[in-house]
Amino acid sequence: VRRLRLALLAAPLLLALAVAACRSHEQAAADERGPRGEVLAPVASAEAGDRIVLVSGALEGSVEPCRCSEGMLGGLPRRASLVARFALPDAPLVDLGDLGRPADTSDTIMELREKAALEALASMAPAKLHLIALGETDVRLGMDRLARLTPDSLTWLAANVTASDPKKAFLKASVVSGDLAFVAVIDPEIVGTIEGYTVSPAREAVLKELPGLKGKQVIVLFHGEPAAAKKALGDVPGLALIVGAHSEVALRTKTLATGAAFVTLEIKGQRLHAFALRPGKGLVAEAHHDLDNLLPDAQVARDVLDRFYEAATKLVPGMPTDKLPGEGGRFAGSASCNRECHSTQFTAWTESKHSRALENLEAKDPKRAGLAECIRCHTVGFGFEGGYSPGGAPEVLGAVGCESCHGPASNHLEVTAVNGDGTGFGRLPGKWPERWRDRCIRCHDPANSPGFVLETYLEKIRHWGPR
Ligand code: HEC
Ligand code: HEC
Ligand code: HEC
Repeated sequence: VRRLRLALLAAPLLLALAVAACRSHEQAAADERGPRGEVLAPVASAEAGDRIVLVSGALEGSVEPCRCSEGMLGGLPRRASLVARFALPDAPLVDLGDLGRPADTSDTIMELREKAALEALASMAPAKLHLIALGETDVRLGMDRLARLTPDSLTWLAANVTASDPKKAFLKASVVSGDLAFVAVIDPEIVGTIEGYTVSPAREAVLKELPGLKGKQVIVLFHGEPAAAKKALGDVPGLALIVGAHSEVALRTKTLATGAAFVTLEIKGQRLHAFALRPGKGLVAEAHHDLDNLLPDAQVARDVLDRFYEAATKLVPGMPTDKLPGEGGRFAGSASCNRECHSTQFTAWTESKHSRALENLEAKDPKRAGLAECIRCHTVGFGFEGGYSPGGAPEVLGAVGCESCHGPASNHLEVTAVNGDGTGFGRLPGKWPERWRDRCIRCHDPANSPGFVLETYLEKIRHWGPR
């Protein structure tokens, strides 16, 4: 019995297992959106004299949603067009950071993505003040490089990250805009050590800033888990608003005992949140705006991302591949399974969407069809020796093929040819149908396939007898 060797193929996919920030009853506030997607006001109930602040959650490298399922939210080009519609030059724009993506294996692609995100953010007019709270993936890029890539119109905030060399101090601890003051901190637990920088406790750093911000409405951006934010800042007096990142869904706004409003925004920049602050009163109203496909792409941000996709596509053929783990089978391609033994399964597969996974990607999203981050789930064995590679490997691996689920087939073919005994190949141990869940959700993860239900999805690709 040949064992499946696909287990390790999924390691990079597992890293990307992020839960979709879908609509939920925990949503912060009603979407104050008019008919046909026309946005009326950032916060309809705000009064003249209230200050509006526009904030998006941590981006986690999601410069645009993948379009794997209907209705996916987010994208910097959509955000840019909404910001332009609001046309509020005095409303500070805030991003909670993590412009890069941790699962990226290519340093060059990581830099290109961060650069593209920064340029797209910088293109958002007409904000006079545009702040980004430093996130751990931004740090991972290297602080010197981050400083070099950042356009002048953007300001990085991190009060608890201090450069040892004052010449390298491009991070600001706090920024004042009229009666508002912004302070950002990152949870030291997440960021670890940074060469050439000191990372101090978040609470300490905020307390140190406060005396200089007397009379201002202080907004603290906390890059870390909601629980860590509460622990660090929950009893700090004199804060108007604490905004946390790192949550899969936006959480209902709470008022802390100190009077501060405590909000947690969803990841991947799926919405633009608007907060209205009134002098002496703090947060008085809020709203969130889905970045959905009713919003057109702003042209400059669109062009920035398209250039990024083009450059990242060119890097794919040269990307390193891993060895296939296990007994050294090779990918043989789905066509090699189309012999008398499995012709019925082959026919069933050709009729399933899996057989057209790359074709459909190319048709529906041609600009991203060559990106490593997309083809890894739309082909066989991408990232492994002999797996799909644009222009390189056999054309037949350009789909979700038999081997995406059953494992590399070369040994199976050889054994069958010699012994006439292929029993056991490609069948996982454990109980039906549960034994397949892990394998399916490597690709059908909650972010890409929120509608995934094991039994119904299995039924749709059925090419086996009664179970
Ligand atoms: C983690 C795996 C994974 C990654 C990464 C991924 N996809 Fe997908 N994609 C899927 C799955 C699974 C589906 C099918 C979802 C469903 O029907 O539930 C899908 C479906 C699609 C579809 C719809 C095809 C159709 O027939 O309508 C498009 C378009 C698409 N993906 C584009 C992309 C793009 C662009 C990227 C890169 C930004 C990407 N995908 C990255 C797993 C992935
Ligand atoms: C290597 C990644 C990958 C794996 C593993 C995978 N899928 Fe898919 N699946 C996809 C992609 C990509 C699509 C979208 C294809 C398209 O529409 O172009 C898809 C589409 C589907 C669809 C069609 C959805 C629809 O709306 O018609 C079903 C059903 C499905 N997969 C079931 C499964 C099941 C069940 C498993 C596990 C036994 C599984 N898939 C494993 C990537 C994968
Ligand atoms: C999306 C994942 C997926 C893909 C792609 C896929 N299979 Fe399967 N296959 C399964 C699952 C799930 C079963 C059920 C196995 C079980 O009982 O554990 C199965 C069962 C089988 C069986 C056993 C049939 C029986 O009646 O017992 C054969 C043979 C088979 N597949 C061949 C293929 C061939 C050939 C291809 C490509 C043409 C293919 N499969 C593509 C998931 C897949």
